[in-house]
Amino acid sequence: MSTAPENRTATRTYSRTARALHWATVALVAIQVPVGFTMAYRGNTLKVWDKLTGALYNGHKVVGVTILVLVLWRLAYRFTRGAPPDEPTLEPWQKLASHANHWGLYLLLVATPVAGYVGISLFPALDIFGLFKLPGIVAPDKAAAGTAFAVHLALAIALVGLIGMHVAAALFHYFVRKDNVLGRMLPRLLR
Ligand code: HEM
Ligand code: HEM
Repeated sequence: MSTAPENRTATRTYSRTARALHWATVALVAIQVPVGFTMAYRGNTLKVWDKLTGALYNGHKVVGVTILVLVLWRLAYRFTRGAPPDEPTLEPWQKLASHANHWGLYLLLVATPVAGYVGISLFPALDIFGLFKLPGIVAPDKAAAGTAFAVHLALAIALVGLIGMHVAAALFHYFVRKDNVLGRMLPRLLR
């Protein structure tokens, strides 16, 4: 029995929901990282604590918590619905490397915002644009906040490193290997 073309596509690609969650996370992380470095540079290095620096810090907290919520939703969806079977032409080492990359990304997408949240709870700096306060998750301890922010920075750098490998691999598959890996997240690019 032959399979309808739309069903063949469905078994080769991530679902609409998984794709929407993936690209929403990409857009928010693309904002979050440069905002994080900019605000920390303005505040900690230049010692400029003006309205703009404050707004960047507030925005960073809001976007960071949104990323955490999206990723937890995405993980719950991933554990219950799974992922499409691996692209059939992949070598065993490529399957292993991509799974390690993806689970490493998930781990850092949870650990990085949690470390940031622990940092603002310890500091404490839970106020959001003077409108409301986020609930603290640990008791205030200003000295420990510095350590939490150092961990947050290290995790963010590791996350950027894994994203770099992930994007390089996606482009390698599309332009060099010319397989259907990128099409799994962007079905219009399926060959
Ligand atoms: C995936 C999510 C996140 C990413 C990729 C991220 C990334 C970053 C980066 C790159 C910095 C600059 C670090 C530095 O130069 O010292 C930073 C700083 C900071 N982040 Fe995040 N962040 C995330 C989530 C969060 C969350 C959820 C919070 C709190 C609710 C938060 C609070 C902070 C604070 C307060 C700083 C400034 C630390 C300081 O001034 O030393 N971040 N973040
Ligand atoms: C913030 C940046 C990004 C993050 C955090 C991220 C995260 C992830 C994660 C966690 C997965 C695994 C999905 C799963 O199996 O549950 C994934 C899959 C995928 N991502 Fe990304 N991604 C990012 C950017 C990108 C970009 C820019 C591209 C395209 C150039 C891309 C293309 C893909 C593709 C094609 C897959 C499916 C790979 C496969 O099934 O083997 N991602 N991404």
